[in-house]
Amino acid sequence: MPIDRRQFLQSSAAAALVALAREGSAGAADDGRLGFESVPATLRDAVTLPPGYQAQVLYPWGAPTGIAGAMPAFAPDASNSADDQALQAGMHHDGMHFFALDGRSDRGLLVLNHEYTDERLLHADGAKPWTADKVRKSLHAMGVSVVEVELGPAGWRQVLPSPFARRIHGRTPMRIAGPAAGHARMRTAADPGGRRVSGTFSNCAMGVTPWGTYLTCEENFQAYFGGDKQTLAGIGPAERRYGLGTGSWSDYWQADERFDLGRHPNESNRFGWVVEIDPFDPASTPVKRTALGRKHQESATCALTRDGRLAVYMGDDSSFEYIYKFVSRDKVRPGSDAAARAANRDLLDTGSLYVARYDADGRGRWLELRHRHGGIDGASGFADPAEVLIHARLAGDIAGGTRMDRPEWIAIHPGSGEAYVALSANPLRGAAGMPAADAANPRAGNVFGGILRWREDGRDAGSLGFSWDHFALAGDPAIEGAGVRYPDAQADAFGNPDGLVFDSGGLLWIQTDMSGRAIARAPLAALGNNQMLCADPATGRIKRFLVGPAGCEVTGCVLTPDRRSLFVNIQHPGETREGASGTPNSAWPDGTAPGSARPRSATVVVRRRDGGIVGT
Ligand code: FEO
Ligand code: CA
Ligand code: CA
Repeated sequence: MPIDRRQFLQSSAAAALVALAREGSAGAADDGRLGFESVPATLRDAVTLPPGYQAQVLYPWGAPTGIAGAMPAFAPDASNSADDQALQAGMHHDGMHFFALDGRSDRGLLVLNHEYTDERLLHADGAKPWTADKVRKSLHAMGVSVVEVELGPAGWRQVLPSPFARRIHGRTPMRIAGPAAGHARMRTAADPGGRRVSGTFSNCAMGVTPWGTYLTCEENFQAYFGGDKQTLAGIGPAERRYGLGTGSWSDYWQADERFDLGRHPNESNRFGWVVEIDPFDPASTPVKRTALGRKHQESATCALTRDGRLAVYMGDDSSFEYIYKFVSRDKVRPGSDAAARAANRDLLDTGSLYVARYDADGRGRWLELRHRHGGIDGASGFADPAEVLIHARLAGDIAGGTRMDRPEWIAIHPGSGEAYVALSANPLRGAAGMPAADAANPRAGNVFGGILRWREDGRDAGSLGFSWDHFALAGDPAIEGAGVRYPDAQADAFGNPDGLVFDSGGLLWIQTDMSGRAIARAPLAALGNNQMLCADPATGRIKRFLVGPAGCEVTGCVLTPDRRSLFVNIQHPGETREGASGTPNSAWPDGTAPGSARPRSATVVVRRRDGGIVGT
């Protein structure tokens, strides 16, 4: 176990004095960048922060969502019903945004994803046997939460009840829009028109539009569909490309025929999309935007083009998949009030979709996925424009995109417009029969991941050409021959970057997702638990800011407009090396030792004790 310097220091009286002195002078460091003391890598089962910072658990799984008259309390023995769960925080918190109310930094709507479920923790008697009720509860535990939060003298609190509070989940009625709406491949027995769908799930990263709506991204949807042996044997190549039939995480199909690929083969085509949600209107219907293409949708990061249209950058998180960009046909109507939201209501339904190609000379191109263009046509398996979107991965193959090492979040620098993408890992790179290392993905057997960035030509998000380089090739620099490269020799080491967010001051927050199987083992042993680091691209400095509890992933990050409160999600604390079959190795945040309480994913708020700007 790595030496936990912070813990060690706290145990000594002398260090306590040092810490006091630091806190006393913290105000003077307000203008500095990365003025905090690095947190050493640690395996502590707690949220560990730099001296002078404090964390508060705000919104754990099971917290009542705050709808007047319907606020079922969390039952620690998991005896809450499926109906209760639909009115409580979901599990496995992920991407998140703070929508300020009236421009304030002390009151706003926190909107966050719930990515997946741990059935052992969700149901009092575990996952098996599957029942229709368990499927309902599980679906209700994914999706999105909208909660109103407020800063008071005692810290942040959830406003209960709140007229904005809302749970959107795997059974919430939603609309399908854009070129694939109504297409034959989108029609099912329950929805013969192909325009209405029940819910969203596998909600990973996110985006925010300039007009103030939230984009939630459907990532590992394939893991909820299944079927009997004969069905799985008959799955076609396009479906296989999306991972269908390669193993499910939750065998819903045994209790709910909607998820049986043999009975309803088109249902899975209705997932893998970006879903737009208006958090300010709790009665609004979420909309799946098919013009943005179907993939294992990780992120949907928005930027304005020079001429005022919207660009949406998207990662497709699987080994050897692509990075995408959507550019709207129409210009964005400025503003984020109700009138702007109404004016931009259909903006995401028409535009062009591209995949990225990263060339060896440091240049790159956006390659359009357009029907009857560049060999994407009936002869290559695309009957019409909608099929190009439904099977965007296959169109990307024909266009000649660069197959990446698992593209995750994409963050845009608020000043330069440079885009940074986290590439979490790809151990299969260079293996027999697999794509070899290339300029953009330079390491065979890539277990560490890295961060790549690009600059669009003319600093215009609408450009079709760009220049790129690596910001970091992550990993433990002590391991020889691992090809680790940080922008600064003093950088704190990390592995498997996933979450990536720029704050308004241009600091880059990096979050890691080493799997439970990999934590504390070679080659990641020295890196401790999953964590959040802060990088200053202006200097290349990278400092570890927060380390999460045992087994967790750190994901989802947003700061208030004044940058004095930082919201971050602790996802799946307690995940062990054995995955779903192991006993959780954490009881965070309710228990003291593993086994003393069900571990719960939760939103945490981090603030400086002196009220200063976080990360400076
Ligand atoms: Fe849901 Fe790719 O992380
Ligand atoms: Ca992620
Ligand atoms: Ca992840």
